[in-house]
Amino acid sequence: MYQPITRLFSKQTLSMKHSFIREILKMTKGVAGMISFAGGLPSPDSFPKKQLARLFSEVVMEDGEDVLQYGASEGDKALKQAILKIETISALDEEQILITVGSTNGIYFFTRCFIDPGDIVISEAPGFPGSLAAMEACGARFVGVEMDEYGMLPERLKQTLKALFDKKQRVKFIYVIPEFQNPSGKTMNLKRRREIIEIAQQYDVPILEDQPYRELRYDGEKIPTLWELARTELKDPGRVTICKSFSKILGPGLRLGYTMGPPEVIMPMVMWAQKITVSPDCATQRVAARFIDRGYFAEQISTIINLYRPRRDAMIEALKANMPAGITWTMPEGGMFIWVTMDDKINTDRLLERAIESKVAFIPGSKFYSEGVSKRNELRLNFSYCDVDSIHEGIRRLAQLI
Ligand SMILES: Cc1ncc(COP(=O)(O)O)c(C=O)c1O
Repeated sequence: MYQPITRLFSKQTLSMKHSFIREILKMTKGVAGMISFAGGLPSPDSFPKKQLARLFSEVVMEDGEDVLQYGASEGDKALKQAILKIETISALDEEQILITVGSTNGIYFFTRCFIDPGDIVISEAPGFPGSLAAMEACGARFVGVEMDEYGMLPERLKQTLKALFDKKQRVKFIYVIPEFQNPSGKTMNLKRRREIIEIAQQYDVPILEDQPYRELRYDGEKIPTLWELARTELKDPGRVTICKSFSKILGPGLRLGYTMGPPEVIMPMVMWAQKITVSPDCATQRVAARFIDRGYFAEQISTIINLYRPRRDAMIEALKANMPAGITWTMPEGGMFIWVTMDDKINTDRLLERAIESKVAFIPGSKFYSEGVSKRNELRLNFSYCDVDSIHEGIRRLAQLI
């Protein structure tokens, strides 16, 4: 008698849910006239196609014997050397860098090193479901800490840690996105960064810093990363591990990122890489190395900034011009997202159904909180993907619905 093969699936596979964000992207993709602020997608206009095409051809022709072969699990030496040119912090060396298949892969390996099923990760609320899903795959449970305009609230973090430690819960690390956070667009100021590290020191838990947008700053001063602060000012080099990505600079399809952290953390991450990815794509790594070595990197970043800054400004302008009183939004200094807060009476999950009929899409805020949190009056808007005219029209449609 035929029995479905799914009966043999693991409990974890059987309990997996589809990503709501991916579902919205599927629903809105290719729909004529749809203006979507839903995805977290870079603009295809930002991809350096000509330079990459030339470099891929060059790398395969010149280094084919090497890059079409199996590569090192820790990543390509040439790319690590190139990264050391852009990450100019003293005492950083190759042993402290792991090249990953996008930053999600680094987040996954880091989590693999720390989490046994049921262990706890403290994250910002709202938080980025993509990274949390990678952690969930390792069996992590999450405790969210509320934010103000400067990120995770230190007092709340302390209370949360104290309560969890009092109950002898296994808290393994604190996960933060300090710059142009996804979804809120908020940036942690310097004082807050120091406070968060000091609290982590007090409770002796590590921090995982996720920094995929750091280079995309449109105004304001650059602030040292938590990773830099811990290594320099706070003399605690093992406290913070940082994940970075080429996704928002060269293109997410390349699937390339890197993690920098203390050798005692990077080493077991490499061992996970040996088992799971074997190595990142070798040709792509060499292309990225040449992209940096040829001096294209800084030029590429300024091209993206010049593309996205007017889009962010257009969205803020359109929100100001169209939204009814009582609705507020964040003013991101960089990145790709604006977070909008409505009157408590507006349920953005329901608003989305009407918005899709009017051909405009966003992600309801509820998708960025753990299950059970009942906040329903917020939403995330992406401003990097649509052009300025579509941004004006899309916000006008959304405001009309509200
Ligand atoms: C905060 C955050 N972390 C990680 C990622 C994943 O980036 P990657 O493409 O490098 O895996 C994203 C992508 O949107 C993100 O917003």
